[in-house]
Amino acid sequence: MKRSNCFAVFFAVVGLFAGKVGATVTLLSPAVSLSPDVSMQAASQSDEASQPRLVRVQTEDVTLALLCEPDGRLSFAYFGPTFSGDEALIARRYIGRPDAFEDMRPSAYLAYGGRNYLEPALKVVHADGSQTVELVVEGVETESLDSNRERTVVRMRDKLYPMSVELIYTAYRAENVITQQVCVHNEARGKRPIELENVYSAYMPVMAPSYYLTHFYGTWAHEMQLVEERLTPGVKTIESRKGVRTTQSENPSFLLSTGAPARADEGEVIAGALAWSGNYKLSFELDESGRLNVLGGVNPFGSRYRLETGDSFTTPEMIWSYSASGYGLAARQLHDWTRQYALHDGETVNSVVLNSWEGAYFNFDEATICRMIDDAASMGVETFVLDDGWFGNNYPRNDDRAGLGDWQVNRQKLPGGIDSLARYAVSKGLRFGIWIEPEMVNPASDLAQAHPDWVVKSPGREVPTMRNQWLLDLTNPEVQDFVVETFRNTVGLSSSISYIKWDANRHVESMGSEYLPEDRQSHFWIDYTRGLYSVYERIRKEFPDIEIQLCSSGGGRLDYGALQYHDEFWTSDDTDAYERIKMQFATNLIYPAEATAAHVSIVPNHQTGDRAPLKLRFDVAMMGRLGLELQPRHLTDEEFAFARRAVETYKDIRPVIQLGDLYPLRSPYEPGDWCARMFVSKDKSRAVFFAFSLDYHDRMASTDFKLQGLDPERRYKVTELNSAGSDTFWGNGQTFTGDYLMRVGVNPWLQRRGASTVLLLEVQP
Ligand code: DGJ
Repeated sequence: MKRSNCFAVFFAVVGLFAGKVGATVTLLSPAVSLSPDVSMQAASQSDEASQPRLVRVQTEDVTLALLCEPDGRLSFAYFGPTFSGDEALIARRYIGRPDAFEDMRPSAYLAYGGRNYLEPALKVVHADGSQTVELVVEGVETESLDSNRERTVVRMRDKLYPMSVELIYTAYRAENVITQQVCVHNEARGKRPIELENVYSAYMPVMAPSYYLTHFYGTWAHEMQLVEERLTPGVKTIESRKGVRTTQSENPSFLLSTGAPARADEGEVIAGALAWSGNYKLSFELDESGRLNVLGGVNPFGSRYRLETGDSFTTPEMIWSYSASGYGLAARQLHDWTRQYALHDGETVNSVVLNSWEGAYFNFDEATICRMIDDAASMGVETFVLDDGWFGNNYPRNDDRAGLGDWQVNRQKLPGGIDSLARYAVSKGLRFGIWIEPEMVNPASDLAQAHPDWVVKSPGREVPTMRNQWLLDLTNPEVQDFVVETFRNTVGLSSSISYIKWDANRHVESMGSEYLPEDRQSHFWIDYTRGLYSVYERIRKEFPDIEIQLCSSGGGRLDYGALQYHDEFWTSDDTDAYERIKMQFATNLIYPAEATAAHVSIVPNHQTGDRAPLKLRFDVAMMGRLGLELQPRHLTDEEFAFARRAVETYKDIRPVIQLGDLYPLRSPYEPGDWCARMFVSKDKSRAVFFAFSLDYHDRMASTDFKLQGLDPERRYKVTELNSAGSDTFWGNGQTFTGDYLMRVGVNPWLQRRGASTVLLLEVQP
């Protein structure tokens, strides 16, 4: 996951091949000879150097194959299940007809110029104004990073200009994930800068009879709404031009199903996600040959980037997962990979949080917070988080109009300081966390007056506010230092702080930087995100043990670029259980449940006004990282007792939810008004099944849900959890074989809208 510097990677050499361009090529596998019927052109050439060479980037079950063509071009050959033998067959895949030529094979990385008329992955303007690029392979090198990861780097060079390009692939063997990124280098010998226009992280051509794209759109308090559409000829793009809070609109991730709409457990699915928190673009161009050309990377929009001589530009990573058995497997692979490589402390079970926001908003004093801590402790909660409103003196943060930027404890509200509150929480057995929004400033603040030059703005124009705030210019190293200091000082308020919630409540408008020179203004979009990552890097280095929640007006920064520095993400400010059923289902097709903060709130819900039963609210939140977002005193005694039991239950099952395998059994986006999901521990000894009725089901109140992922040979005892009165499943307390549960299924009685069931399955000795 870590971004690599173009030339800071060391490789092991495994073979040699001299291609037509006279360069040295290092290959991963022996030459592939095309059989005579494959290509007339190939058949007429016998010498080994005239044969394409196969490069395999390979995990246990997935292979991405490239071909070094005899003339130096790099072609894309294959992305699909790992296979044994018959490598030559791969070389013919994109040729199709026996009399066709190899140059019908798509390029592995589409550059502007030559025969290409599609949206290019790479487009540059050379110093003399020429805009074309023609890349030839110089070498292929492979390095084993450890027993699970192998990196393959294809080094290429422009035939005419002093520019080189590296395609960097990392294969994660056990997780069946392949990542891809690109490094462009303006060689010193050129002595003149080049301008980068498009530098996508990845290009992936796909050939199939039809294509169905699932993507995730949304807005504040309505993030990650799933939509699936059949792609038609033309270009479909998913992108952001917001700079910050980029995933409130669309998420930079997708599922691509070929031949038929995506199903949970059958059919081919390619999952893709971009690790970038700035402007991004995913492009799906269905061309006249029926080929789908997929691009993913930094959005070229307004982002022309000058590369001085000797400098390199490395793109973010594009992450690929492939499944021949539906989107469930693709998601499980991504989750395993995320826990291991793309989430801070991903293999640790997360605690139950009570966050003060919806319970107190800005209106609290020490007594309010101490009472919340008392109640949280007696409910079994493990971490208390003090949200917005604790800072600012000259401009007290009593609402969202003032105080951002002035990160000093508000002496009037909290005269005893943060330390006494944090120690109080610890004395009650809780951890203590606190909220910050360090990239932002209210005009009404000491900071805005001291540093007007730090504000993102288009000089000479009005600086628009959003939620009454401005954005600080993270391209400026002084601002980066300020953000790091803000984090450091906040953590320093008490040695009992172990959790930070990092918020960001606006996007970029009227873009411009007083720090960047005039001829670098278009670097803003990229340099802001790089500035943010540099801050994250420094913070993570200095504070490896602080838990950090990724929040940006809810789920506005849910991407793999930011996630790697965080322990969890705040999925949405919409905590309505009915909404969350759909949102969490969609979110967890890409990002794991372990990191999906899911908090129970009060009714009527503060966003939707809906009144989901308390059992439903807990059942839904227990499918993620369970927490609470309420004033416990607003619960009746009966509700409080239910909540305490549910928190206790969750602690027992959370290793299965957070570290187990997710099986999305029934999608709430499909007709039928049901949702069912289950989590299975890696050793299959425990599983938790959840089902929800999304509408009134009259006499059809019972449907069979066939379980998945169990051991067919073993017997599982079924116990209903979170029961609110009568059982929903007739088999509660009984024992069934895994085979029965998977072939016949369970059929809980779920008649009313909002009826729900949670079943624990435990292997019997
Ligand atoms: C937006 C977040 O999503 C909320 O949870 C809360 O922290 C507010 N900001 C505070 O201003």
